[in-house]
Amino acid sequence: MNAFIQGLPKVELHLHIEGSLEPELLFELAQRNNIDIPYQSPQALRKAYEFEDLQSFLDIYYQGANALITEQDFYDLTWAYLEKSKADNVIHTEIFFDPQTHTERGIHFDTVINGIYRAMEDGREKLGITSQIIACFLRHLSEQSAIETLQSILKHQDKIIGVGLDSSEQGHPPEKFKRVFQQAREAGLLTVAHAGEEGPAQNIVDAVEMLGVSRVDHGVRCVEDPQLLDALIASKMPLTVCPLSNIKLCVFDEMVQHNIADLLRKGVAVTINSDDPAYFGGYMTDNFLAVNQAHPMSKRELAQFTINAINGSFISDELKANYRAQVEMYVAKH
Ligand code: HPA
Ligand code: ZN
Repeated sequence: MNAFIQGLPKVELHLHIEGSLEPELLFELAQRNNIDIPYQSPQALRKAYEFEDLQSFLDIYYQGANALITEQDFYDLTWAYLEKSKADNVIHTEIFFDPQTHTERGIHFDTVINGIYRAMEDGREKLGITSQIIACFLRHLSEQSAIETLQSILKHQDKIIGVGLDSSEQGHPPEKFKRVFQQAREAGLLTVAHAGEEGPAQNIVDAVEMLGVSRVDHGVRCVEDPQLLDALIASKMPLTVCPLSNIKLCVFDEMVQHNIADLLRKGVAVTINSDDPAYFGGYMTDNFLAVNQAHPMSKRELAQFTINAINGSFISDELKANYRAQVEMYVAKH
């Protein structure tokens, strides 16, 4: 089954590009940009990646992002992620970035988006991976800061398909961003939001109703509200679940306790994603392997994760049909 998983075509819908910054590249960039890192080596830094909750991770993750300064840095970061994705047979990916993490420390929005976008164009040409960009608002910052960030996003709307919401869920419910999401939707952007990762099921309800999301990021706490669960199944709302992330951030103690297999079998449109692979111990294939090891699945079930991701992606119906056919051909052959 491991070979089947490795070769299975995959679609990633929940990946923070800043979370794909491997310690080795972080050290290289820090040297290039004359930035001090309080660790002796990439190995020592990697050892420090022990988290007890979302916030303890975010503190280290934002520190790591300080090494990213130039457009070339953002290009190198994105290119490294795309190469890893190629090795995992990812055919399409929708990449999050956090504009405010960079603009707050004086890096221009254009520097960030242009570097990421140039790598994505090369990824399409040289690796055959299609991709989209989603700009996330940091929920620990103010509504006003999100509204200002939306203005920059709109200047690059030719490259950005939608907006998302990430960072600390506790204490920053969807309601805080109702107006900026409405403005984004009116401008023609699609919307997604992290909800029900650490926060309650009500945040999922509110993300759908107040933010008009097309997908829910994480959403694993939906099981705490049976009515919500039924609604998610009926509406085929995609959940972008991140199994290794959920273990690293102690959302579940062990993978055997993770509810992703159960959700799939109940008919929820769950998908498998890597979230912040450099921090959580693996990319797409690693996440599939970890799920299948704890919850043995049929080939059909494993392929369903990709089918769900294709259906929930922000690509044309024509490309979706093409990708579904690619998956069906792979399953038929194996
Ligand atoms: N949750 C919230 N914010 C984040 C995450 C996450 O898993 N990863 C990067 N920013
Ligand atoms: Zn995330």
